[in-house]
Amino acid sequence: MSTPPDLAHLGPVEMLTPRPQESLEFFTEMMGMTVVAREGQSVHLRGWDDYQGWSLKLTEAATSGMGYVGLRAWNEQALEHRVKLIEASGLGEGWEQSADRGLGRAYRFRDPDGHRFKLYHECERHVKSADEQTDFKNVHGKQPNRAVAVKRLDHVNILAGDVRANRDFCVNTLGYREYERIELGDGSLGGSWMSLSIAAHELIYTRDAHAAQGAHGRLHHVAFWVDTREECLRAADIWVENDVFIEFAPSKHAIAQGFFLYGYEPGGNRIEVTSGGRLLYAPDEPCVVWTEADRAKGQAWHNPTVATFHSYGTPPFEADAGH
Ligand SMILES: [Fe+2]
Repeated sequence: MSTPPDLAHLGPVEMLTPRPQESLEFFTEMMGMTVVAREGQSVHLRGWDDYQGWSLKLTEAATSGMGYVGLRAWNEQALEHRVKLIEASGLGEGWEQSADRGLGRAYRFRDPDGHRFKLYHECERHVKSADEQTDFKNVHGKQPNRAVAVKRLDHVNILAGDVRANRDFCVNTLGYREYERIELGDGSLGGSWMSLSIAAHELIYTRDAHAAQGAHGRLHHVAFWVDTREECLRAADIWVENDVFIEFAPSKHAIAQGFFLYGYEPGGNRIEVTSGGRLLYAPDEPCVVWTEADRAKGQAWHNPTVATFHSYGTPPFEADAGH
């Protein structure tokens, strides 16, 4: 990969929900996020250490899923350079004056599977309120006095019928680095873990089990960061106490080494509370390839992956809609 790293990081993300009030209560009461603004059918929220003004836009919609995911370029020149490459790929959709609240001009495009992206550079940083001014000058807010207090948006996992085509687009056109992938016995890719930074993953593609039935552009999960595994465990306790559906109880991923808790927010979208995961400093770090035999061992501690993790996404397919 010889292209310069024009893009800095992933975020913010827009999530769609058919149950906006319950979803909002989940993100404020169960995740400890703060409402920044309400605009039309949307609410903008932030984790307490998100440096941007907001990281999650929750939008009322007929069904669940992802509205769009933002990608921030290092500067305006980098933005324009990357837009030229996207336009050459044929997947560009055009410029808009503002990507969203507090964000500058943006270029809209879709990945090969149909997910919406917005590429931008300018953004308003979070300005700490008087109450958030503490001795910790190097954080972007103040921990809320709530049990689950996610710090920031961490990563997004989306589904694709053809993981390889989407991986190739992200690597060749957007400049992502692929750190780990699953190669299935038939030579196709089961998943690809990519990043713009030293974090083990920011953007993940895994195979959509319903692609053959026409599914595309679906969301697997959105992950929010906490600093410790203990906070993931506490989040699980609190979710149980408050009847949040836990799909996959806390454990450690084999791929990328991230610690996890997965559940569904009331709108049906899969949410992860995550911590840990490896950091990759080497510019020539080889991609780790996992085989079907490797994956048959389950997660890091050889516990099996729950079946729905391989099939459920949002918007849901009828057979999966009961979850
Ligand atoms: Fe994840």
